[in-house]
Amino acid sequence: MALRPLALELPDTAFGLASVGANTGELFADELRSVRRAVAGRQAEFATGRGLAHRAMMALGHPARAILRASDRAPIWPSGLTGSLSHCRHYAVAAVSRSLPAIGVDIECLHRLSPRTHAAVFTPCERSRVREEPEATAVFSAKEAVFKAIQPLTRTNPGFLDAEIELDLGGGRFRVAYVGSDTATRCMNDLRGAVAVDAGHVLTLAWLTPA
Ligand SMILES: CC(C)(COP(=O)(O)OP(=O)(O)OC[C@H]1O[C@@H](n2cnc3c(N)ncnc32)[C@H](O)[C@@H]1OP(=O)(O)O)[C@@H](O)C(=O)NCCC(=O)NCCS
Repeated sequence: MALRPLALELPDTAFGLASVGANTGELFADELRSVRRAVAGRQAEFATGRGLAHRAMMALGHPARAILRASDRAPIWPSGLTGSLSHCRHYAVAAVSRSLPAIGVDIECLHRLSPRTHAAVFTPCERSRVREEPEATAVFSAKEAVFKAIQPLTRTNPGFLDAEIELDLGGGRFRVAYVGSDTATRCMNDLRGAVAVDAGHVLTLAWLTPA
């Protein structure tokens, strides 16, 4: 597997990345119940992601706990932890932190977007900079990671055109600027971003450092 977890030295933070279907451990009964009606592919993604998150919790010295979903579909983390999950067809990824106020992770297969969707996802400034892969999927993925970090913190729902991503693929980083009008969501400007690309996938991570 070419794509490794982003090599970041974030304090008290643990990551996991595995192929969907890899044995990452048992689910809790409540987790199993929450996907019992889902199709097999979704169950496999869910199981791998949850297993990685359980392992990340234990790596931080926290007992593994069931991670259920809120009504807005955000994962519910045990008190004292923040975290994020993502899956694509091939990989699942989990990030869990004991110290970061917000964290979001996203993994995508390249060519995730058709050019027809660019106007709905990219701001005019991004469209002038991003024309091809892997940049297009990387900017999309960065926005998804930003959303996952920000939404549980602010309870706001920024749209794709509210966040403007500046990629530095060579440096493995991105910056985000909030270009919407909601005061509570402005903390998005303080997010830091990391990005990794391999032949077929993009992995992004967005996080806030403690004040
Ligand atoms: C919620 C969303 C970000 C999920 O991303 P996705 O690429 O479809 O799917 P992924 O596999 O990467 O991520 C799914 C995981 O996201 C997490 N997630 C879902 N809703 C979430 C929310 N409101 N906040 C944080 N995490 C959330 C869940 O853990 C979910 O996995 P699970 O169902 O197994 O628990 C996406 O569907 C969405 O609604 N995007 C629109 C909003 C947006 O991205 N705006 C960008 C501008 S900031």
